[in-house]
Amino acid sequence: MQRVLVTGAGGQIGSELTPALRKRHGTSNVIATDIRRPDGASPGTEGPFEIADVRDRERIRSLVGDLRIDTIYHMAAILSATGEANPQLAWDVNVGGWANVLEVARERSVGRVFCPSSIAVFGPETPRDPAPQLTVLRPTTMYGLTKVTGELVGDYYVHRYGLDVRGLRYPGIISSETPPGGGTTDYAVDIFYQAIQSGRYTCFVRPDTVLPMMYMPDCIKATLALMDADFKRLSHHCDYNVAGMSFSAEELAAEIKRLIPSFACEYAPDFRQAIADSWPKSLDDRLARDEWDWRPSFDLSTMTDDMVKRLRKRFGK
Ligand code: NAD
Ligand code: SER
Repeated sequence: MQRVLVTGAGGQIGSELTPALRKRHGTSNVIATDIRRPDGASPGTEGPFEIADVRDRERIRSLVGDLRIDTIYHMAAILSATGEANPQLAWDVNVGGWANVLEVARERSVGRVFCPSSIAVFGPETPRDPAPQLTVLRPTTMYGLTKVTGELVGDYYVHRYGLDVRGLRYPGIISSETPPGGGTTDYAVDIFYQAIQSGRYTCFVRPDTVLPMMYMPDCIKATLALMDADFKRLSHHCDYNVAGMSFSAEELAAEIKRLIPSFACEYAPDFRQAIADSWPKSLDDRLARDEWDWRPSFDLSTMTDDMVKRLRKRFGK
């Protein structure tokens, strides 16, 4: 049975990945960690939890050693919008924290390590529709810069030390359980909460802004599929493009209006528009499809149906 450590377990993705891992490996074998304890209402709070700051290598070392960890899912990070507000923090957490996890994994011979990358690795010089697997990586955000560094240093540990490190370039993740934590794609989650709760939304990107997105069940499915894949089939390690769906902000608003006819969306682009404009519209994920059989289950309509159903139930609307 695997012994699993999840960093950043209280975040948007960690809070849903942790219960999925507990279902597979047993609750007591999956140790959730974060810098703060999630409140009792969050998913994934039913099992072991430890406070751990990924910038503290000693803390990560003692947890991995004392708890006999053999698999790490490293979800702790500072996302794009928060990263632009505090670039030094983004560097320290995303690069320093990842370097700590990799070093401890090497020292302790951890069997397998996962670290997400992002569509933020791409920049304005990358072909946008679709962004190829192997292409120009010149991001303009500190977040993107830390994610390119993370991919490269993860690959370095594979080739230099033989550590089994894997990662995906997640699109913007849409989910109904835990709100997202300071990203540019957050509008595609906020819009659902506001549509259900108030019937109105002011969107911080232009209506014609198209970005790659993915529904949470596909995010979990892709993560587990890559971690389960036979290492011998993988020609890449920390940087797989993985696509779910692509849509513009106005297409998303129209889908929500299909289910909530009175919904009204206005647009007031802010600093996050420039970040969105630097990212691609879609991703070429043929390598993921060929090497570990990736196929998404949700498109724009099925994701919207499910989000609205879940949030209506949650808010009694
Ligand atoms: P999130 O912001 O919701 O969660 C991140 C978690 O990390 C938070 O719970 C936070 O408390 C924790 N954290 C912050 N600083 C920490 C520190 N110093 N030590 C330990 N924990 C710390 O982010 P998320 O959306 O769950 O993202 C998880 C991973 O997926 C990140 O690597 C992110 O870059 C990547 N990703 C997310 C998306 C998305 O749309 N959500 C898209 C692409 C990539
Ligand atoms: N969803 C993330 C963000 O917007 C992309 O990695 O920051």
